[in-house]
Formats: sequence, structure tokens, C-alpha cells
Amino acid sequence: MSSRAKVSLPQLRAMKERGEKITMVTAYDYSSALLADKAGIDMILVGDSVGMVVLGYDSTVPVTMDDMVHHTKAVVRANPASFVVADLPFMSYQASINDAVYNAGRLVKEGGADAVKLEGGQEMVPAVKAIVNAGIPVVGHLGLTPQTVVQLGGYRVQGRDEAAAEKIMRDAKALVDAGIFALVLECVPEQLALKITSELPIPTIGIGAGSKCDGQVLVYHDLLGLFDRFKPKFVKRYAKLDEEIIQALKKYREEVREGKFPDAEHSFK
Ligand code: KIV
Repeated sequence: MSSRAKVSLPQLRAMKERGEKITMVTAYDYSSALLADKAGIDMILVGDSVGMVVLGYDSTVPVTMDDMVHHTKAVVRANPASFVVADLPFMSYQASINDAVYNAGRLVKEGGADAVKLEGGQEMVPAVKAIVNAGIPVVGHLGLTPQTVVQLGGYRVQGRDEAAAEKIMRDAKALVDAGIFALVLECVPEQLALKITSELPIPTIGIGAGSKCDGQVLVYHDLLGLFDRFKPKFVKRYAKLDEEIIQALKKYREEVREGKFPDAEHSFK
């Protein structure tokens, strides 16, 4: 049980109004959710990045609804005060409004998430409206949308030219009108993120979008230095846990081989 009071939607909106930065980090299991909660993180994202940093896929595309429900349940078992958002994975909401509402419902009802996140702009308005009408809070995701990275031509900054920036702004406003309560902006120029942040009534959460968003999100494994297959420019490693883990595992291996572990302290008489 968390020692903090549960973070609520009005609280997140109030943080934007007060200019207080919102912190979000991904988590995919019970123990990482416990740590994020203990660190006082406002929002946990059970991101479909689980596919890349935990399940070993090359992209987020293969992640299934069952994967997302499984990982969301594990996070929610930590009972965090942090507000839990779960990603709708690729093709769980694009084919029909029914799919979108049904699968958003699974993440909340089976997974225990507080809200869901989906990628896309104006084309997602009917799905967002239907999910919100079903009583489920929705986070939008614009800019670099990893589920459609092939269509975007790779992992690159979005909204660099005027037309592209205007489209992202139009998409953001359409999503707000449809009922999203927060918007993730991934890999967009800082000036565009600032403009969107100042024109929207809801919080923006940036990743690779500069410092002017209302909040920031990073992938747990990137932040802690647990994943080194690639490191985007926007990732800051606050620790190098991979090195520490390798050292600890080597030490364990050595001690077992040398008969030093288990010693008297770790054995039953
Ligand atoms: O899945 C994820 O981790 C995300 C973040 C990159 C925002 O969507």
C-alpha cells in the first residue's frame, strides 16, 4: 500500500495550472511499479515499449492486448499512488470503434489501469470519443508514434516544417475536443511543444520534446541504464544499473564456483 494519496485527474490538471511539472515513467511489473511509487512519480505508463525493452521485439508492433493486460495487472498489484496509464497496442483500436472501446475496457477492467493511451491524431477522434463516453480517461500520443514508425520513415523528429507542425497542432486540438485529458508529445521540436503546451487546456507530457511541456516521461530501462541496444538523444541515463548487475552476477558466479557461497550465514544448521 502506497504511503501517498492516489494521484487524480483534477490533481494533474491543477499541476498544469500551477506550472508544477508532472513526472511519468514507464513500468511493466510489480517491483518496478513499487519503486516508481516510492520515488513519488506522479504517473506510471505501462507502455507498449514493454515489447522492446522486456520482450525483445524490434518494435512495439508485435505487442498484444494479452501482453498489455498481463503487465498492467502486475503494475497495478503494487497498488501505486501514481496514476496508471496503459497503452492500447497496435491494431487493438484502429480497425473499429468497437475494438477500441472493448480493448480500452479490458485494460481498465482486467488490468486495473486508471486510463489508456493511444497513438494518432484526427483519425482517432471517433475512437477517443467512444472510449471517453464509456467512462475511460484517455491520453493522446502525437509526434513520433512508434506503432506507425514505418509510415513515418523511421525514428526521427516530427513536425520540423511549418505544415507538419500545423498538422500536429490541429491533431492536438481535435484530440482535446474529443476528450483526452493529457497528451504525450514524442520527438518534436521544443518550440512546437511549447506552442502546443500553451494553447491546450490539458497537460502535455514530453519525451524528446524539450523542457517546456507540462511533464516528462522516460522509459524505465533507458533512465536506469538497463537497455543499451540504442540510446536516443533525448534519453538521460540517471544510473548505469546494467554495469552493477553484471558485476553482481559475475561475483555470484565466482563465489559459487569457488565454494564461497553459500557460507554459514546463508545456510541452515
Ligand atoms: O510505450 C512507451 O513507452 C511510450 C512512451 C515512449 C511515451 O509510449
